[in-house]
Amino acid sequence: MKIELTKNKKKKPDYSDLGFGKYMSDHMLVIDYDDGKWGEPQIVPYAPFEIDPATQILHYGQGIFEGLKAYKKDGKITLFRPRDNILRMNTSAERLCMPKLDTDSVLEALYELVRVEEDWIPEADGTSLYIRPTMYCSNVFLGVKAGTKYRFFIIVCPVGAYYANGLSPTKIFIEDFYVRSSIGGTGAIKCMGNYAASLIGQEKAHKLNYDQALWLDAKDKKYIEEVGSMNIFFVINDTVVTPALTGSILPGITRDSALKILKKDGYKTEERKISVDELIEAQKDKSLKEIFGTGTAAVISPVGEFAFKDKNYKVGDGNMGKVTEYLYDKLTGIQTGRIKDEYNWVVRIK
Ligand code: COI
Repeated sequence: MKIELTKNKKKKPDYSDLGFGKYMSDHMLVIDYDDGKWGEPQIVPYAPFEIDPATQILHYGQGIFEGLKAYKKDGKITLFRPRDNILRMNTSAERLCMPKLDTDSVLEALYELVRVEEDWIPEADGTSLYIRPTMYCSNVFLGVKAGTKYRFFIIVCPVGAYYANGLSPTKIFIEDFYVRSSIGGTGAIKCMGNYAASLIGQEKAHKLNYDQALWLDAKDKKYIEEVGSMNIFFVINDTVVTPALTGSILPGITRDSALKILKKDGYKTEERKISVDELIEAQKDKSLKEIFGTGTAAVISPVGEFAFKDKNYKVGDGNMGKVTEYLYDKLTGIQTGRIKDEYNWVVRIK
């Protein structure tokens, strides 16, 4: 692996006011693919890419990405389930006809980048270093076909909470016209286009004073899928319900961790279809106790209110519920080393 360190380190941002995704670190990792093989991983000073206007990614969107986090406490650096992210990226690559990564060598390069950027890992509760692996087609060609050249890169940035209002409950708007994805489409992978397609729902939600759109299935527009930046969970009576992975929902790593923690700790969980009608019924008869979202960026985010077809519905008393709080504490406890990791999820790299 080639490592070229910058001579011009940036000034660090105020770690008590990070927000999400605003400050990029000093270095990045780049690995190029050509001629059927991946080249040498290179850690180089963070800088813009020069990109030919005819590069395929700019025209046909053959691009995928991941999101994971690193934590630092008392000089120790840990990552949460990094291998699962690279494995999921390979699933995304397969769906978009892109080359698979060599998981072990990419992980090794990723760990090295995080160690190089150690000073960029904030330590306060609720903060971390967000890691963004990305891959795009770099062929310069205007015909529509899978490329032969790809660039894989990783950038990292110190982050606080994903939502501007931190852990206060968010408001979600159930989108009943536009769809995010359909069975057989790309909803179950992390490709750039999914996020572009979801922006209109988010804009609509914002105009109506909601934080995010909640997507329904494309066929019946009846069953709840996911938010786009997070998977979604409902506490109905004493059962925690989340939409089953039908092929159009992202198999979130935080979603999987939440289910495993809840099951192990004695909560009843169900992965199944859940309709908007069932949700509204449960809100009306007060069996709906809590809603929360899960995601790497969003962590565990309480939802205090939802809207569907001009009506809004409060969730419980509108505050963070007990199950949400339990899960938030347990998951962030495991991620930051405050709670023993019984699952082998945490990887120490320093
Ligand atoms: C993540 O949770 O890491 C995501 O990728 C969601 C969003 C920030 C795009």
